[in-house]
Amino acid sequence: MRVGVLTGGGDCPGLNAVIRAVVRKGIEIMGWEVVGFRNGWRGPMTGESRPLGLSDVEEILTRGGTILGSSRTNPYKEDGGVDKIKATLADQRIDALIAIGGEDTLGVAKKLTDEGIGVVGVPKTIDNDLAATDYTFGFDTAVHIATEAIDRLRTTAESHYRAIVVEVMGRHAGWIALHSGLAGGANVILVPENPFSIDQVVEWVERRFERMYAPIIVVAEGALPEGGAEMLTSGEKDAFGHVRLGGVGTWLADEIAARTGKESRAVVLGHVQRGGTPTAYDRVLATRFGLHAVDAVKDGDFGTMVALRGTDIVRVKLAEATAELKTVPPERYEEAEVFFG
Ligand code: F6P
Repeated sequence: MRVGVLTGGGDCPGLNAVIRAVVRKGIEIMGWEVVGFRNGWRGPMTGESRPLGLSDVEEILTRGGTILGSSRTNPYKEDGGVDKIKATLADQRIDALIAIGGEDTLGVAKKLTDEGIGVVGVPKTIDNDLAATDYTFGFDTAVHIATEAIDRLRTTAESHYRAIVVEVMGRHAGWIALHSGLAGGANVILVPENPFSIDQVVEWVERRFERMYAPIIVVAEGALPEGGAEMLTSGEKDAFGHVRLGGVGTWLADEIAARTGKESRAVVLGHVQRGGTPTAYDRVLATRFGLHAVDAVKDGDFGTMVALRGTDIVRVKLAEATAELKTVPPERYEEAEVFFG
């Protein structure tokens, strides 16, 4: 049996741990050949691949990024993309694919399964916004990085009695903002799920200043003020219609300074949150996902995705996994509000 593996979408700490688990179990336990496709769905379209042996996955467990490269290529948006994939799989005698990715990559995996290609999905995203799994690997690492940044920013904010706005990733879901904000004791947390009132934010900030402390405001990149994106002076949108990194954080810092008369700074954490070595939690979760994906291929259980439910790894239908995003529910946000101001 020859099994292909690929990583699609934004990179994420833990991808290499999945690849390692697939290769180790695939070769040593199942006796398969494992083939790595380059750059997400682009690899199966162009045929760019290489055999993955045991030595290829030595010492990659702790490494961030992905040894296979990644892209956001969608074969359904490319001329003849799906036919090219079918031709490559036939040419390279690939019996099944393990696709590691987020919403877009898994959406493609689902459609290809419907066309008769054997695909098993592995969920990944630092955003933790895939509904069918309790957690995605990469999220814990991103939250750790953001929390450490908040801890560091607090001491400099206090020293200068300034407000610091920390913009974290999360276009549609505010999980990183919520968890890093709670862990870092943020005085305001803003998420895409709840349009915020700038008057209310300023009130919380002023309350903090009155108590002679420097406020820390954690904002997800996709959070918007009531009234929408047009409120953000520097908030141009990207090709996906999302406010560009740096838009909301900078706007907020400027508004806070203008309305309170206090100094204010914006720090955009950006891709720092996706880089570097995964936490122990993410290494374990990614490894377990890889091992269980091999089992799903062995069972011929295609069109499924491995998922974490409680402490168990289960299989769910890809259709279910890609049907909706998991956003921050109001009751989780209300828990955090206790600490605002
Ligand atoms: O989906 C993961 C993610 O890191 C988002 O949080 C962020 O909005 C986006 O990817 C950034 O994408 P890119 O790496 O293409 O700039």
